[in-house]
Amino acid sequence: DHKTFGVSPNLTSCHASLGRKDLPVYCCPPRNELNDTVIVDFRFPNPSSPSRVRRATHLLDDEYIAKYNKALSIMKSLPYSDPRSYTRQANLHCLFCTGSYDQKYSNFQLKIHRSWMFFPWHRMLLHFHERILGSLIGDDTFALPFWAWDIPEGMTIPDMFMNKNSSFFHAERDTSHFPPSVVDLDYTCKESGLNPEDQVSTNLATMYHQMVSGAKKTELFMGCPYRPGEGGFCNGPGTIELAPHNTVHKWVGNNLHPVSREDMGVFYSAARDPIFYPHHANIDRLWNIWRELHGDKIINDPDWLDSYFYFYDEKLQLIRIKVGDVLDSTKLGYVYEEVDISPWLNARP
Ligand code: C2O
Repeated sequence: DHKTFGVSPNLTSCHASLGRKDLPVYCCPPRNELNDTVIVDFRFPNPSSPSRVRRATHLLDDEYIAKYNKALSIMKSLPYSDPRSYTRQANLHCLFCTGSYDQKYSNFQLKIHRSWMFFPWHRMLLHFHERILGSLIGDDTFALPFWAWDIPEGMTIPDMFMNKNSSFFHAERDTSHFPPSVVDLDYTCKESGLNPEDQVSTNLATMYHQMVSGAKKTELFMGCPYRPGEGGFCNGPGTIELAPHNTVHKWVGNNLHPVSREDMGVFYSAARDPIFYPHHANIDRLWNIWRELHGDKIINDPDWLDSYFYFYDEKLQLIRIKVGDVLDSTKLGYVYEEVDISPWLNARP
């Protein structure tokens, strides 16, 4: 019996969890599903297969938007029994973010926020989500877009999410934050009261701090080391996870739920809003950028690298994938379109 490292879920332990303090939720897959599921170890996509280019939402053309809209509407039409369905995709987030699974070798709940599991777990989620969307429209170059709220051109809710007749629209959002309202990357659930111009420069200063001056040490950016057996999570989120990640979640969510701000404002429901995915693509992109800026500091710790999770792929295979598998996004078959980040990179106070 050799020692294994890292955390992983006990798939047979799925149970109800708390969506927020006062709200039990049940996000588990159908109980008998595991019986006839074969688990396959992750393999990188063929390097010669076409690369997916994730583009900024404010630079998309109508043809792409129509394609994404079609893929998403097919996904939304699949039944709950299909792990590729939109509800099941959204529930993945609910499962791993509210602690629906126990850890493999203990009965502590497994939670992937507020620690070094934050970046890699969401990267995995998006990778499989993107592959599934592409396969639903028979396009293996399909890539998710990213919502570049870090640069001035991207600081409002992208237009495509405002179209009521598209699959991107979602009713549970704060209508007072609809365009032309400028996002507040430090949102505290109170309106900043800043005029648009000042809000933009405050946002750029936030970005500089979270990506550059406040994120020089790996742990400050990545979050605390979460090791097996620790009671659920270590509770030390990295700079970007706190803001803009959490703050943009809250800012988008519906103010008619004043504290939790569903759907985007709370873990169990966040991924029900289609804007969740471009929001997280931007987080994922910023992880790459941080590594470029600070000299690619890789965490060489088996408790991180060997932690693993399971995701269904587009062929309905249940894939076992390790943190160590997702460090190089190019190997996962996608790249980010470059946009000019000098507005925040030069926003040194
Ligand atoms: Cu798992 Cu944006 O949260």
